[in-house]
Amino acid sequence: MTGVFAMLALLAPTAALDNGVGILPPLGYNTWNALGCSGMSEASVRAAAETLVKTGLRELGYRYVNLDDCWQDPNGRDPWTGEIRPDLTRFPSGMKGLADYLHGTGLLFGIYTDRGLLTCAGRVGSLGHVMQDAQTFASWDVDYVKEDNCYSSTGPNDEDMLFYQFGLFRDALNSTGRSIFFSVCGGGSQLPLANLSYYATDPRGGKNLANAWRVAPDCVEWLTCRWGSAVASRLYDVAGLGGFNDPDMLLASSKGAARRLTPKHSRTQFSLWAILMAPMLIGARLELLDSFDLETYSNSEVLAVSQDALGRQGMMLAQQPSIFEFPFSVWGRPLGDGSWAVLFLNDSPILMTISCDADCWAKLPFAAGTRLHVRDLWTHGEADRPLATVGVPYSVDVPSWGASVMLKFRRTNRQLIAV
Ligand code: GLA
Repeated sequence: MTGVFAMLALLAPTAALDNGVGILPPLGYNTWNALGCSGMSEASVRAAAETLVKTGLRELGYRYVNLDDCWQDPNGRDPWTGEIRPDLTRFPSGMKGLADYLHGTGLLFGIYTDRGLLTCAGRVGSLGHVMQDAQTFASWDVDYVKEDNCYSSTGPNDEDMLFYQFGLFRDALNSTGRSIFFSVCGGGSQLPLANLSYYATDPRGGKNLANAWRVAPDCVEWLTCRWGSAVASRLYDVAGLGGFNDPDMLLASSKGAARRLTPKHSRTQFSLWAILMAPMLIGARLELLDSFDLETYSNSEVLAVSQDALGRQGMMLAQQPSIFEFPFSVWGRPLGDGSWAVLFLNDSPILMTISCDADCWAKLPFAAGTRLHVRDLWTHGEADRPLATVGVPYSVDVPSWGASVMLKFRRTNRQLIAV
């Protein structure tokens, strides 16, 4: 350990995350994929909030309205007090005004900062102002803070400094006495396809540090989203109630958004994120959502998987092992009522029949020969093959190019009574 790090270790924050919020994965909206930097404005955020109410999404649990980068004054902090300031041209009511409006609408308010000197989009970061910013955010009645990883003085991958600085912010938030969901993020600058799983597995990270921690670089199109889901899957055992692996935000498919997926991919992303117990922050221009997207985000059966109170993350159960054959995978998550949500995902260019075979069944806790009811969580009825027998391959036809079928396997009533 160098002298500097020995000193950091002595000063190192010791408290663990202790904020009592974020027991289940957060549901809501984040501005980044919808508006980017140039589209940020109070009017757009209010339009998103109004749409959450009008569409019934708020009633389904989507309560966080989170500002990402570019809410800050482009001219920096107040030169006299050092306080962080909002861009009042774009947010004329200021942050407290916006928070009051959101709280009055039954929503929660999230904000974004960075542990470095600047944020990823070049606005002012929290370096050197940790306690002051935490107090400012608390005074604005902020409910959620995402802290990013750009422009750190020692680079984005200096793990000691990273955990030290994120830990300082966690403690500063704790010390405000306000319960604030804390999400740590890194992924903008570690491309190509860095594996950020140390955020989850290091004893200074994971649930000791935050309510959610990014595990992969930004999910900006289908391949990066699939990469994030694969990394999150391998980390299934570190997540739990109050702490979640974060493969990044939902991209949706709405027109006018800064980033988006095809409708089919966005639906698969939503299903996968539910299996992975991931934060579900919609990154769409909500007022431009079409009926397909609205149906996606309103699916109460998939939301029930996301919000399942058992709090066990799902994982990939099986995949096509040969690179010479078309790729597919089967994913599963155990649920509080003893059932399992199972997703069949086809990444190939042709319609495929995907099976839960012997290896896949072996990953599930049901005894061989058990009869299971199978429900389709997207058609809201029995699956095409409504009964499965544990150990006997169970097959599903799945359309091409990233489509998926999401099912729920549960013991038949007779067996439930017998156990
Ligand atoms: C990074 C993060 C993104 C977003 C942008 C904002 O790239 O990973 O999620 O917050 O910064 O500049």
